[in-house]
Amino acid sequence: MKPMKRNEPAAQRGTQAQRAKAPRPDDRSAGDHAAPAPAAASPSAPMLTSTAAPGGYPAVRLRRPRQAGWSRRLVAETRLTPDDLIWPLIVMSGKGREPISSMPGVDRLSVDECVRAAEQAMALGIPALALFPFTPASERTEDGAMALSPDNVVNQAARAIRRAGLDIGVIADVALDTYTSHGHDGLLDGDRILNDETIAVLVRQSLAQAEAGVDVIAPSDMMDGRVGAIRRGLEANGFQNTQIMSYAAKYASAFYAPYRDAVGSSAALRGDKRTYQMDPANSDEALREVALDIAEGADMVMVKPGTFYLDIVRRVHDTFAMPTYAYQVSGEYAMMMAAAERGWLDGDRIMMESLIAFKRAGAAGILSYFAPRAARMLGRGA
Ligand code: PBG
Repeated sequence: MKPMKRNEPAAQRGTQAQRAKAPRPDDRSAGDHAAPAPAAASPSAPMLTSTAAPGGYPAVRLRRPRQAGWSRRLVAETRLTPDDLIWPLIVMSGKGREPISSMPGVDRLSVDECVRAAEQAMALGIPALALFPFTPASERTEDGAMALSPDNVVNQAARAIRRAGLDIGVIADVALDTYTSHGHDGLLDGDRILNDETIAVLVRQSLAQAEAGVDVIAPSDMMDGRVGAIRRGLEANGFQNTQIMSYAAKYASAFYAPYRDAVGSSAALRGDKRTYQMDPANSDEALREVALDIAEGADMVMVKPGTFYLDIVRRVHDTFAMPTYAYQVSGEYAMMMAAAERGWLDGDRIMMESLIAFKRAGAAGILSYFAPRAARMLGRGA
């Protein structure tokens, strides 16, 4: 590195450098459409607005604002608040709660317990819950018919939360995997997922949920055209105000494994979901998926999984300026919990760091199993 000349202030050096490069008056008439040169570039005007950082250090020291907590708060570009969090709940029939071995700290909840969780979420300032059903193998069928039942556990929980009169958003997953004996999100013909036949069922599943008081329908199945069909179904049945949060860019990911355990799909699932969920190698394709869902009537779009797909969150947010959500999925949660349990990583700190990363990438909100724990920490001023 070249040593700096001691008695030459950085600002002045910059001025000279800029002056040497400043256009001469006749340069400006080079073309009819040439924009007038900014005042600062004029040789006679003082260089007050130069964006160049001539010389940089020591005039520029990015550590200065980092020296105190108040100053770090003042310059923080993004912030995480409980308003950013959506809490996924796994609903089961019966009473009480049941631990999920691959997701320490997360339990399956009975309908009663879901209402209690909703009250807790309210107290913590969490704006919405996302409901998923646990269905034991004995109650699963080839066609996943229970998805349509007004009395399945998700619809029961939605009704119970509505009855409790809580001002909290209820989001429900639309897909068949939690009800089918084969664990796939759609209807099967042999090994083939039937797109259009599945859509017809998903529309009915959505209507049953809207009827039960679900505020936001969240199709996670990745069938082509399902958002449009669900939107038309809602409009035709008096649910004009029901929102759709589409799992627009959902990837075929190995990070869903603990969730499949949680909802009872692990043993059921035959094969993988690569004929409908996206290839992790693709990014442009995610924009096409999102564009279609928006055109079909989605109010909000989601990218899933989260942490390893933050580039997609950023592209989607910047391209569409839509409320963009990210799902920090079960495997991301499990991974962090496992490392924290072993004392390899600091659980609270990786939780908060992982969540602010979503905000930095442009997410409007995050579905996360950490939601109540993070909201509690934020409430304590973390
Ligand atoms: C399926 C669905 C999945 C998740 C939400 N909805 C799993 C899958 O696609 O196999 C995953 C959630 C998580 O891993 O936390 N419709």
